[in-house]
Amino acid sequence: MEYAFEAEGLVKRYGKTTALAGVDLAARPGTVLGVLGPNGAGKTTAVRILATLLRPDAGRAAVGGLDVVADAARVRGLIGLTGQYASVDEDLTGLQNLVLIGQLLNLRGTQAKARAAELLRDFELTEAGGRQVKTYSGGMRRRLDLAASLVGRPDVIYLDEPTTGLDPAKRDDIWNVVRALVADGATVLLTTQYLEEADALADEISVIDHGRVIAHGTPASLKRIVGGQTVLVRPADPARLAEAAAVLAEVSGHQPESTGRGVVTVPVDGDAAFTEVVRRLDQRRIAVTELALRLPSLDEVFFTLTGKHTEVAA
Ligand SMILES: Nc1ncnc2c1ncn2[C@@H]1O[C@H](COP(=O)(O)OP(=O)(O)OP(=O)(O)O)[C@@H](O)[C@H]1O
Ligand SMILES: [Mg+2]
Repeated sequence: MEYAFEAEGLVKRYGKTTALAGVDLAARPGTVLGVLGPNGAGKTTAVRILATLLRPDAGRAAVGGLDVVADAARVRGLIGLTGQYASVDEDLTGLQNLVLIGQLLNLRGTQAKARAAELLRDFELTEAGGRQVKTYSGGMRRRLDLAASLVGRPDVIYLDEPTTGLDPAKRDDIWNVVRALVADGATVLLTTQYLEEADALADEISVIDHGRVIAHGTPASLKRIVGGQTVLVRPADPARLAEAAAVLAEVSGHQPESTGRGVVTVPVDGDAAFTEVVRRLDQRRIAVTELALRLPSLDEVFFTLTGKHTEVAA
């Protein structure tokens, strides 16, 4: 079996809306496929088809070589899904939720409890395990959602925007969980709106827009097309913007761009340039309120690939 999961020509319509207009996706066993796209691109629809929760109008999809429509029950035995909208019961405790899922998966009572305790420990929720989920913070909630999808030790895991809305530290926790799952041999489909996240985790990335794959490749090949890292500086004193721009020009050898809102940016080749920018800004006593090394935003990626900005979802 070459692919842990694969989809070919998926089409899904809702009335006049074409959510998927012929999407191909695939991942080899033990790899992460990042599906990058803006609101309404069709990410959740594709995940739901691969998870047997929705039938495609055309095209086919298989997990572990099993068709998601004809063999739906067996496919469900192979997959774990962390939905974009949480699936745990708010009125139950974290522990009760995980035990319940174990029982639904036909684990015996003691096994279900042992598996729940193990997952609570792995996700640093042991202490919170006895509390109702409605008292959890957003980050705790996401970790529990993720734990819930892993009760049955699935080979293939779908994570639908697992970090949207999380702060950077909580996001890093989820990233580490994903890395550990893959190190254990799992195959992951991860949807995201952040190139940075796809870059950090994915072996291959499919960029989707309006139900179509508009680009596919490794993170490196995609960054060659859409541009690599950018240094961004916002001087505390807007009058020193030109001086900050001069520093960026010296270090990068490129002409910096100013968006006209007190910020100046320039593309750089590696992390070393960032350190150099910090050093020179400090030498010249240019105080900053924002200083970042970042990848292009999804909007910038889309603009490069399509010549259009992403639309704000209705
Ligand atoms: N049950 C539904 N009924 C009608 N239209 C739907 C339904 N589900 C999705 N759609 C439409 O299909 C398109 C794709 O939606 P989908 O939820 O797959 O996008 P997404 O990429 O997951 O977006 P987001 O980033 O906002 O989660 C959108 O235009 C959406 O409005
Ligand atoms: Mg979605």
